[in-house]
Amino acid sequence: MSETSPRPHDAQALLSEEHQGSPTVQPAQPTHTRKLYLESYGCQMNFSDSEIVASIMDEAGYATTRNEEEADLILLNTCAIRDNAEQRVHKRLTQFKRAKRSRPDLVVGVLGCMAERLRESLLEQQKLVDLVVGPDAYRDLPNLVEQVHGGQKAVNVLLSREETYAEISPVRLDANGVTAFISIMRGCDNMCSFCVVPFTRGRERSRDPQSIVREAQQLFEQGYREVTLLGQNVDSYKWNIDNKGQIKNPDEPVVRFAELLELVAGVHPDLRVRFSTSHPKDMTDDVLHAMARHENICKYIHLPVQSGNSDVLKRMNRGYTREWYLDRIAAIRRIMPDCAISTDIIAGFCGETEAEHGDTLSLMREVRYDMAYMFKYSERPRTLAERKFEDDVSEEDKGRRLREIIDLQGGHSQERAEGMVGRTYRVLIEGVSKKSDEELFGRNTQNSIVVFPKGAHKAGEYVNVHVTERVAVTLRGTVVENG
Ligand code: SAH
Ligand code: SF4
Ligand code: F3S
Repeated sequence: MSETSPRPHDAQALLSEEHQGSPTVQPAQPTHTRKLYLESYGCQMNFSDSEIVASIMDEAGYATTRNEEEADLILLNTCAIRDNAEQRVHKRLTQFKRAKRSRPDLVVGVLGCMAERLRESLLEQQKLVDLVVGPDAYRDLPNLVEQVHGGQKAVNVLLSREETYAEISPVRLDANGVTAFISIMRGCDNMCSFCVVPFTRGRERSRDPQSIVREAQQLFEQGYREVTLLGQNVDSYKWNIDNKGQIKNPDEPVVRFAELLELVAGVHPDLRVRFSTSHPKDMTDDVLHAMARHENICKYIHLPVQSGNSDVLKRMNRGYTREWYLDRIAAIRRIMPDCAISTDIIAGFCGETEAEHGDTLSLMREVRYDMAYMFKYSERPRTLAERKFEDDVSEEDKGRRLREIIDLQGGHSQERAEGMVGRTYRVLIEGVSKKSDEELFGRNTQNSIVVFPKGAHKAGEYVNVHVTERVAVTLRGTVVENG
C-alpha cells in the first residue's frame, strides 16, 4: 500500500495487496543444521510463494528462524508494484550489507518481483546481494545457494510458461492453523498500462485442478477451515483449454474458475472458500451463481476498479468502462444481496483531470465499498504507461486526490460496518484478540472482523455471534449459539 494510505486492520491486512516486510517462520526440525531468515513483501501471492520457498529450502536442510542474527541465509521475497515498495527493500538490503561485514559467511538473496525486474543490476551496481532469483526459479534455489558458497554470485531469473509448483507442499509459515492460501495460477496476460506484474511474473498459467483440490483436502484434514484461492486474475483460470477456447485433451474435463470454486467448495461444507483477485472485465455471472449456490463460498468479492472514469480506464488498458463495471456490481447485488465488495483505486494516473478524479469519487458513492486499498500512481519502468504517457499529475494533486478518496472510503467503511450491528453472523474463529486474552476474533462471510468474549470456544470453530456494536470497522458481539 502507498505510504499515505491507511493501514487496514491487521487481520484484514491478510487480504491486502501489499504488506510490510514481515519475518515468517515454521517450527525448527532437529535434522536441519542451517537457518533461513525469510522476509516477505507484496501481495498474498508473494506470501504464498514464500511458503513454497520454505518448503524447497526445508528439503535442502534449512530451518526457518525469526531471528535474523542467527541466520546463515537471508532471503527477501520482494515486491516491485510501486516505487516505495522497492525503496523499503533497498533500505533493508543496506542493513544486511552492514551485517555481512561482521558475518562474512552470511548469504543474502533477493527473490520475487524486484529480483525479476532488476536482475543482475542488483548484484553488479549495488553489490548488496549474493543471490538473485525470480519467481519461476525457486526450484533452483538450493543449487544457487551452493554456488554462492563456492564463492560465486548466483542469478536465475528465467520465467517459465509451465511452472506452477503444483506438487510442492507449501510449508505453512506463521500458520494460525485455520486459514491458508492456495495459489491456483501464476503470471498475468493482461497489460494494464500502469502495472509491472506481467514483466515480473510472466505469462499466465493455471495449476492442475486436482492438485488444488488435494491441497484443500489436506488442509481440511489438518484442521484448517478456510482457504483463499489466489491469482492475479482468478476469472481467467482455465484448465484443459487453450487461449483460443480449444480443448486440449478430450478425455479430461475442462475446468474454468466457476467449476474450480465448486470443486473446492465440495471438499467439505465446513471448509470456507475465498478468492482474490477478480477482474471486472472477466468476472462472469457463472462465478456469482456458483458463489450463491454454496454457503461455504464466502460472500466477499475484491473487484479492483482503479478509476471511475472510462477515459482513464482506457488509458489504463483495463478492458472495461465505468458502465460495464457498474453492471458487474449490479449483478453481484442482484445475485447475492448480502455480498461485501472491496476495491483498489489509483489516484493521479497519467493525464487524470479533476473531473476524471471526480468520477472516481462519484463511482465510490454509487457502489459504497465495504473496504478499499488506495494508492497514488507510481510510474514503473517498462510499462505501457511509462512509454506512452506522461506522469503529469503533480505530487501535490496526487496526494490531495488520494486523501479525498481515503476520506470518502472511511465514511463508507463505517457505514457498512454500522449496517451489520444488530445482526447475527456465523463467524469462523481465527484466534485470540490482540487487545485481550479474554476475547477471540474471527470473520463473517463478508470478511468483517468480529470480536467477542472467549467463553469455552477456540480457534477453528464456527460460532454464531450477535453483533452489538462497532468500533471503527471492527464488530463486537456475543456468541448466541454454536454455529
Ligand atoms: N491483479 C490485480 C491487482 C494486482 S496489483 C488486478 O488486476 O486488479 C494490486 C493493486 O496495486 C492494483 O489493483 C492497483 O490498484 C495497484 N497498482 C498496481 N500498479 C500500480 C502503480 N504503478 N501505481 C500505483 N498503484 C498500482
Ligand atoms: Fe497488473 Fe492488470 Fe495483471 Fe492486475 S490484471 S496484475 S493490474 S496487469
Ligand atoms: Fe508485488 Fe509482485 Fe505481488 S510486484 S504485488 S509481489 S506480483
